[in-house]
Amino acid sequence: MGRVVLVTGGAGYVGSHTVVELLKADHTVIVVDNCVNAAKATEGDGLPPALERVQKITGKTLTFHELSLLNRQALVNVFSKYKVDVVIHLAALKAVGESVEKPLAYYANNITGTLNLLEVMSEVGVKSLIFSSSATVYGVPQYLPADEKHPTGVGVTNPYGQTKYVCEQIMKDLAIADKDWRIVLLRYFNPVGSHESGLIGEDPNGIPNNLVPYISQVAIGRRPHVNVFGNDYSTPDGTGVRDYIHVVDLALGHEVAIAKIFQPDFTGAKAYNLGTGMGISVLEMINAFSKACGKEIPYKIVGRREGDVATVVASCALAEKELNWKATRGLDQMCEDTWRWQRLNPNGFS
Ligand SMILES: NC(=O)c1ccc[n+]([C@@H]2O[C@H](COP(=O)([O-])OP(=O)(O)OC[C@H]3O[C@@H](n4cnc5c(N)ncnc54)[C@H](O)[C@@H]3O)[C@@H](O)[C@H]2O)c1
Repeated sequence: MGRVVLVTGGAGYVGSHTVVELLKADHTVIVVDNCVNAAKATEGDGLPPALERVQKITGKTLTFHELSLLNRQALVNVFSKYKVDVVIHLAALKAVGESVEKPLAYYANNITGTLNLLEVMSEVGVKSLIFSSSATVYGVPQYLPADEKHPTGVGVTNPYGQTKYVCEQIMKDLAIADKDWRIVLLRYFNPVGSHESGLIGEDPNGIPNNLVPYISQVAIGRRPHVNVFGNDYSTPDGTGVRDYIHVVDLALGHEVAIAKIFQPDFTGAKAYNLGTGMGISVLEMINAFSKACGKEIPYKIVGRREGDVATVVASCALAEKELNWKATRGLDQMCEDTWRWQRLNPNGFS
């Protein structure tokens, strides 16, 4: 059944891919985004380029409002215009390193923005929410693979991760206080890849924070080599191992979360990991990308980064059991799709 879905941060990387899947599933989509980390419309009140391309991919239309979640009145105005069934809340600042340098900006944007959204939703009686959380809430994992019962908020090493943990806590408390709330907390592992069309993808501002966009910019010649932070971890090749998930699989996770939230017996706030459960090392990723783009990716081994851990992988058994969701796209497809996007859009959306 088609729902009216309001997507905060829908012009961003995960958001644009999620909106594609929502439109394909016949939902009506309203995006709000202030474009702090997304290319803006080239003219007046048009759509940001990522959303123009979403319409091109799907042959369907969506509605866009450029606004910040920090502007409470603007949010009230949007909610008064539509009969929203469910909100997918992706809007956040997400650069871990920057969050260490600018903690106040991160706490203000991610926590105040979320509080405004929850307050306005409460006022207008929209109490169904899907939240973009992160594996960072597990801190330094105490066991692997990390399942949803793993302690959260212990050893979270940066303000960005803290904002995800605090937002989860706020939502859990809200769902305890008011039984009408239905909340799904999606804990993403490491989203990579792009839509197979090559029309949308990750378009980082400045130096990419994440491995795959960095490798991709080396492959296209925008950067000389990849820095590999440490090759003396207790992993098979000594480099860090992470659980990478194709962004289209992740996007489909939101679609099944909507179905879950509207099941009559669903209550409270419930967390699900979205990953693959498979660990991929930095060197394995570099090798797979070299294969996908047909050239050797140069890299240099440098010292470990503070706060990095050897291995983080998800247990995704709960999402498989309760959401009937499983990632199906493998490493080669992650690299091929990223490369297609990068090759066709060497300078991203600009
Ligand atoms: N990409 C990842 O590696 C990853 C991993 C785990 C969790 N997440 C979470 O998933 C969500 C989406 O991530 P992404 O990779 O698509 O990031 P992104 O930066 O591409 O998208 C976030 C969007 O939110 C918008 N935004 C930020 N603050 C806003 C505000 N105050 N008001 C309105 N819009 C605002 C930005 O302009 C951007 O378009 C974020 O919440 C992020 O923390 C991402």
